[in-house]
Amino acid sequence: MSRDLQTTRTRRGGRDSAFRPIAFALLGFWTLTAAATAQQSSYPIYTQDDFVKTMKSVGQNFGAINTAIAANDFEEAKGRVVRSREQLATTVTFWRKNKKEDAVKMWRAAITKMDELDTALSAETVDKDAASALVKQVGAACGACHAQYREQDPTTKAYRLKPGSVQ
Ligand code: HEC
Repeated sequence: MSRDLQTTRTRRGGRDSAFRPIAFALLGFWTLTAAATAQQSSYPIYTQDDFVKTMKSVGQNFGAINTAIAANDFEEAKGRVVRSREQLATTVTFWRKNKKEDAVKMWRAAITKMDELDTALSAETVDKDAASALVKQVGAACGACHAQYREQDPTTKAYRLKPGSVQ
């Protein structure tokens, strides 16, 4: 029994040393990753993580606009426009930080359309069709940037920033 254990241990020891280079490589990778993370957090203002979180709530609030308009609840619709506009507004920091002028332009186009939608929903008598048409136009403005900078994982269906879009 004890000899068996001894043999196993020796064999395992052999395997360990064979894997040592890999362990070192992994350690090196981990160190690099840690360094990259540390570097990222040296921008405490607005990280990619913040960007993704914000975009998620923009999506939630924006999605609720159509439902509210369909229910003739223009007050609620306007509230959702204001919130999603506010949230989308903060994301420009990400594009400015990464010097993506084309993205800033698309961002501005979306914000401008959202302001038009806000105005339409603030009218004394809201033109429901005009408001719905504007929702579509805002959606198209969001979509222009998504076509350029967003991709969806074919398996998990999760969205992400297209790799290599920013350094
Ligand atoms: C200037 C570029 C840009 C504009 C404008 C923009 N987005 Fe995005 N959006 C992105 C990028 C890049 C991602 C991918 C990041 C991610 O989700 O990881 C994204 C992701 C999303 C997601 C998926 C979030 C997730 O990960 O589950 C939603 C929802 C979304 N956007 C909604 C909107 C809506 C609604 C608008 C317009 C009101 C909009 N976006 C405008 C760039 C943009």
